[in-house]
Formats: sequence, C-alpha cells, structure tokens
Amino acid sequence: MGIAADRPLIVINFKNYKEAQGEGALRIARAAEAVSRRTGVPVIVAPPQVTLMQVARSVSIPVFAQHVDDVEPSSTTGFVPPESISASGASGSIINHSEHRLPEDAVGRLVRRMRDLGLTSLVCASTPDEAARLARFSPDYIAIEPPELIGTGRAVSRVAPDVISRGVEAVRAVSPDVTVLCGAGIASGDDVRASIELGAMGVLVSSAIVRAPDPGAKVEEFARHASEARGR
Ligand code: G3P
Repeated sequence: MGIAADRPLIVINFKNYKEAQGEGALRIARAAEAVSRRTGVPVIVAPPQVTLMQVARSVSIPVFAQHVDDVEPSSTTGFVPPESISASGASGSIINHSEHRLPEDAVGRLVRRMRDLGLTSLVCASTPDEAARLARFSPDYIAIEPPELIGTGRAVSRVAPDVISRGVEAVRAVSPDVTVLCGAGIASGDDVRASIELGAMGVLVSSAIVRAPDPGAKVEEFARHASEARGR
C-alpha cells in the first residue's frame, strides 16, 4: 500500500514496550489497519525489529523498521542493513530516533541507500535546526520530537507549539518536498489536531497508543481528529 503525502497521517512507533512483543505487535498492527481502513486515514506501524517480517506479511498498511544501520548485508552481526528491511517486506524505516541516534553523515548515506532500494525514510530530529540540517538529505519524512517530552504525555503541540511551526518552516526552506511530522507526548485527539493545525502533516506517536488498554480505540480517536483538522 502506498503512502499518501497529501493527507494527515499517523505513524505508530511500537518501541520495545512489553505490550508490543511477539503477538502483541500483530494485535496492535491489525487494530491500526482496521482503523485506517474504516477512516481512510493513512496509518504506518513500526513494530519491534524481530517482528518486522511477520507484521509486514500480516497487514496491508505500511510497516516500517524502527531503526536501520549503515552497514552492508555481510558479516555485520546484529546490525540491520537497509537490504534486510527490504527483504522483510517492510516499506521503510525510522532513522535517527532520539533513542537510537546516528551520526549525520550516516543518516545521509542511509536516506540514499533506502531510496535506491525503493524504501521510505522517516528521519527524526530533536530541534528545528537539526531538522533543517537533515532536510538537505531530502528524506521522505522528517519527524521533529523534543526528546524531553517523549513518553511524558505532555504533547509537543501543547507545550512547545513553536517547535512545530518553526520546524515546518525550517524544513520547507531547505527541502519543500519533505513531509514534516511531529511527535513527543501526543496523548489525545486534540493533541493530534493541534499538531496538524500548527503545520505538521501528521504525528509520530508511541506510548499513548501502544500502552493504551484498547490501542484500536486510541488510534481511532487520533484518526478522527486527524481527518477533521484543518491543516495549513
Ligand atoms: O517515536 C515516537 C516517540 O518518540 C514519541 O513517543 O510515547 O511520547 O508518543 P511518545
């Protein structure tokens, strides 16, 4: 399934939360798929690396890796080269998440390698300045996430709205084709709506969905608000 860049979208990073291990990853991915189908809102899931192939085979929404390494498909024990992601059936990867940072030159090489393999790159940045620097590599997506808000339930769109608006402007100035997302602390549909109204094209979210008693209901809440938001 392709990824529309013209409609607000939701990217769910499952991280390594215990709710997302093994069968848990499949359950959350299937719930996300059902909501995406019902609402028409694009949803991308990034399950734990070891479940990647299984999840990619089980759902029709895009599945991303949580991390990719700038190594060759060779004697590189335990690393994940872009070729592994392609072979797993996933369609892209998060790169440079603040919990798994990479040197900037490696990010640039990975975006190029991913593109050559037909894979989608979602590059994370902690600040508008970093987002502008990484935008010169022209990834498909840049997600701006202030690390201090991650996992707190204090949404970037409420606590630091200027980070989103400045980040969107900064990326546009360098590379207008890059789709800008935001994340960190997004906990409610209103947080999603505010993110989009501040200029982001969607959200990168984790704990509010993955740790929810009913992840499907939470994705649905986010999707409803995403589709009702008036982007700018
Ligand atoms: O990758 C998404 C993430 O870092 C945000 O996490 O739990 O604040 O939604 P969370």
